[in-house]
Amino acid sequence: MRGIVFNGETAEIRTDVEVRDPGPNEVWVRVAAAGVCHSDVSVINGTIPWPAPSLMGHEGAGVVERVGAEVSRVKVGDHVVIATLANCGMCKWCNTGKPGWCRASIGNRTEPFTVGGVAAGNFAATSSFAEVTVVKEIQAIPIPKDIPLTSACLIACGVVTGLGSVFNRANVTPGQTAAVFGAGGVGLSVIQALRIKGAGRIIAVDTVPAKGKLAIQLGATDFVNAAEVDAVAAIHELLPYTPTQTVGPFGAGGVDWSFECVGVAPVTAAAVEVLDWGGTCVQVGQAAPTATYAMPIAHFTQVERSIVGSRAGGVRPQYDVPMIVDLYQRGLFDLDSMVSKTYPMESFFEVVDDMHHGRLARGVLVF
Ligand SMILES: NC(=O)c1ccc[n+]([C@@H]2O[C@H](COP(=O)([O-])OP(=O)(O)OC[C@H]3O[C@@H](n4cnc5c(N)ncnc54)[C@H](O)[C@@H]3O)[C@@H](O)[C@H]2O)c1
Ligand SMILES: [Zn+2]
Ligand SMILES: [Zn+2]
Repeated sequence: MRGIVFNGETAEIRTDVEVRDPGPNEVWVRVAAAGVCHSDVSVINGTIPWPAPSLMGHEGAGVVERVGAEVSRVKVGDHVVIATLANCGMCKWCNTGKPGWCRASIGNRTEPFTVGGVAAGNFAATSSFAEVTVVKEIQAIPIPKDIPLTSACLIACGVVTGLGSVFNRANVTPGQTAAVFGAGGVGLSVIQALRIKGAGRIIAVDTVPAKGKLAIQLGATDFVNAAEVDAVAAIHELLPYTPTQTVGPFGAGGVDWSFECVGVAPVTAAAVEVLDWGGTCVQVGQAAPTATYAMPIAHFTQVERSIVGSRAGGVRPQYDVPMIVDLYQRGLFDLDSMVSKTYPMESFFEVVDDMHHGRLARGVLVF
């Protein structure tokens, strides 16, 4: 079968991929559609170190084709979103709503594939850039069959990460203010979640002016083009400390919440700098393992700012995926507008190029 393989240097479209049979608690999913997330690009450019060879992709949806002997919750023919958390389902974290803290959910790379006869690993326990992938039963979340799989696939990473960062990692109350750095698949999901939560001011920040239109359509109240202006100063202008003073002591003024959805240290610094007193920055962007940033400690202690991390939006797949489907069906979360374009698997590098030129909310591969 076909698949996109990370070979240690780049991605290759291969036709000689095989997947092993499902184990007792596993399922085969025939992938119908897979979004290209920036984290896939980060594997190729080394920002996310990953062993090769591996089948890439982690934002997928498809149809269950085979089930292991002990699988009871999903059946052949079910349409599913493939969750990236291969958590155990039994530990204290799994049972207290924190499956992303489950010790089984990180470092669980296995080698369920072969490429040209050589054992190959999976990416993010998922490998959605393969025509068929094998995942744990717990990762296959059934969805209604009338939802286009090209839209549903986005839920698997970008949407749970963005929406979950607002719903699970932040505590946004109606009327509060927020700045969202990076209006890609993740940032646009943050923006929609902030709209759903009733945030009063949602400032989208991106370096590509074209991102502003979709950001506003999906719920942003303002757009700042960080390629042309200093985003921190622009946000302080929009939300000054007092009507007569733009910036107050300890950098006061600005937003209650900021979401870093780019993954580079200077943007993290900006996202912290735009926080008002008591504000919290949610770090979502995945920076290189060595990336750091410096900040005056007093900007945290004196005015009680915070920074929190977000792994896939603190997702609880069995709860959050159906909830997002419900929001979609009620017209509250717009998945369809986030699918900018669909491509055949062979056009993967065209997606990456379109992504780099800011042409996409999400590019989706269809198999
Ligand atoms: N924490 C997690 O679990 C998790 C999950 C998914 C993705 N991510 C990470 O989130 C980040 C965003 O992913 P995505 O798929 O939305 O990426 P994307 O490429 O779709 O979007 C990134 C956006 O950031 C913009 N941008 C680039 N530089 C900027 C700057 N200096 N200031 C403002 N905007 C800038 C780009 O124009 C683009 O619109 C990546 O780092 C990705 O690896 C993390
Ligand atoms: Zn992702
Ligand atoms: Zn567990």
